[in-house]
Amino acid sequence: MSIYVDGLKEQGKTFGLVPTMGALHEGHLSLVEMALSQNDMVVVSIFVNPTQFDNEEDLVKYPRTLNQDVTLLSKVSEKTIVVYAPNAEDIYDQVVKSESFLFDGLEFEMEGAFRDGHFDGVGTIVKRLFEIVKPHRAYFGEKDFQQLQIIKKLVELHDIDVKVIGCPIHRAVDGLAMSSRNTRLTEQHREVAPFIYKTLKSAKTKFGTKSAKKVKEWVEKQFKLQPLLKLEYFTIADTSTLKPVKRKSKNKTYRAFIAVYAGDIRLIDNIALI
Ligand code: PAF
Repeated sequence: MSIYVDGLKEQGKTFGLVPTMGALHEGHLSLVEMALSQNDMVVVSIFVNPTQFDNEEDLVKYPRTLNQDVTLLSKVSEKTIVVYAPNAEDIYDQVVKSESFLFDGLEFEMEGAFRDGHFDGVGTIVKRLFEIVKPHRAYFGEKDFQQLQIIKKLVELHDIDVKVIGCPIHRAVDGLAMSSRNTRLTEQHREVAPFIYKTLKSAKTKFGTKSAKKVKEWVEKQFKLQPLLKLEYFTIADTSTLKPVKRKSKNKTYRAFIAVYAGDIRLIDNIALI
């Protein structure tokens, strides 16, 4: 892959990287489309990265559909998309272990607090992919907004020459944010899952007139009335520091973040507030 991309660079071609863990859906394809519109070539990496899972069962059950993914991508473009599907040895040599990172405190909030070692795993794989692929631009979905901010910080702190581009959340018609994990939802859980985005939208409206504390209490109450979904956290945070908001300030922007269990499937989502 390194030799291949060096060749592209010598020909003066620009290329974008779309890092994924496979089980591609329309959300991924929207990242690929965005990357194709801004670069000559696009590398889509497909690698289920073991070090970012804090739950062995989630890692084992994570959908792996490489042939299907390649077919899907070839329908988008056969000439300008390259799939990079390394194995664990290509990435980690002998020891499958993450590096430790500091991301100016972004790593301690929300997903960082609930998923032990998750962002060390993400930092390790993304840094490694940047070293191998050396893309001009890299594309990440805003569904994992905290991950996006952390990768921007990784690039800044490690002085990596790549432009990180965040892309809007892609949703199903009923509002559920697209995720590879959605395929593992039972029919019943899939039916109630749009409640997550519906509640986020109402929280956004309420945040116009109410404090973050009051909105959080309201959201928690809504989920208590919904037996099929278990709220793990709901936080309204400052967009840049990701710290929970105590008092609203006019010159700051905020986002609401949520993590919910639908059976044993963990779903996350977020929405821009003001
Ligand atoms: O968002 C994902 O799918 C993964 O966290 C990523 C960025 C591909 C790293 O494994």
